[in-house]
Amino acid sequence: MKKQILVIGGTGKTGSRVAQILKTEGHQVRIGGRNESPSFDWSKPESYGSALEGMEAAYVTYYPDLAVPGAKEAITRLTLAAKSAGLKKLVLLSGKGEKEAEACERIVVRSGLDYVLVRASWFNQNFSESFLLEPIQAGQVALPMAEAQIPFVDANDIAEVAVKALTEDQWNGRTLTVTGPEKLTFKQVVEEIASVTDRSIQFQSVSVEAYGEMMKSAGVPDDYVWLFSYLFREVLGNADNQEISYDVKEVLGRNATSFREYIERTADTGIWNQMVSSI
Ligand SMILES: NC(=O)c1ccc[n+]([C@@H]2O[C@H](COP(=O)([O-])OP(=O)(O)OC[C@H]3O[C@@H](n4cnc5c(N)ncnc54)[C@H](OP(=O)(O)O)[C@@H]3O)[C@@H](O)[C@H]2O)c1
Repeated sequence: MKKQILVIGGTGKTGSRVAQILKTEGHQVRIGGRNESPSFDWSKPESYGSALEGMEAAYVTYYPDLAVPGAKEAITRLTLAAKSAGLKKLVLLSGKGEKEAEACERIVVRSGLDYVLVRASWFNQNFSESFLLEPIQAGQVALPMAEAQIPFVDANDIAEVAVKALTEDQWNGRTLTVTGPEKLTFKQVVEEIASVTDRSIQFQSVSVEAYGEMMKSAGVPDDYVWLFSYLFREVLGNADNQEISYDVKEVLGRNATSFREYIERTADTGIWNQMVSSI
């Protein structure tokens, strides 16, 4: 049966893919974002009701992260607004190994609505659609936690799992942990991208503190510096976060996308070979 689904963060890394798949499957999709009509803005709780009106389910990606101060209040308000608007289900994107995000997960679990929690590892697409793209294009990547073993997951896999969670009842009440099929360190990732693109990309291991200082000197606001330090130290430093999960296979009936496949697909677009004008 076709559904009416709100995709909050529908222009972002997973949301855009979720919206695309849902539309292809014939569902009616409303994008939740600041430039949409009706507009949805996490910082404006008064915008939640009109975005939720008439919807049956919602894919919820909170920006910038469920661990930041204010996230619990926003998720509480959203669940209340979703109940009043008559939604049946929420699918919440959360972070694997993020203790702070679990408080937000519990709010959704206790909402009284059907729910699925999608707990994701770090996305592959952070290297091609986010903050790590520019350093790769510039050929100089400096990161902390260089030795952490990370089961990076592909945003396409997360989106396909989220669509199943939104459209099929059998996943209700589940926490689906989505990871890639292998673990890599940041250093290995940079070496693989350099090898596939045939470029020289330097990797420098720095401390979390030094990385925070670099962000501050680049003008990054203090609350983002705190968030990145938290994500590097608490999430990547947490052994639970390094475990590989097979939930992608259970839900999709196929193996999770390998990092190599992601690299080859992305290298073909040419994005890693583009010059950075600001450097
Ligand atoms: N990146 C990762 O590796 C990773 C791993 C695990 C979990 N997660 C989780 O994924 C979620 C999204 O993170 P992401 O880094 O992947 O970002 P993203 O989804 O690519 O974020 C961008 C989206 O956020 C929306 N947005 C930004 N500010 C907003 C606001 N004030 N109100 C409403 N929408 C707003 C943007 O929409 P408009 O600009 O159109 O308004 C855009 O659609 C976070 O909760 C994060 O914890 C991320």
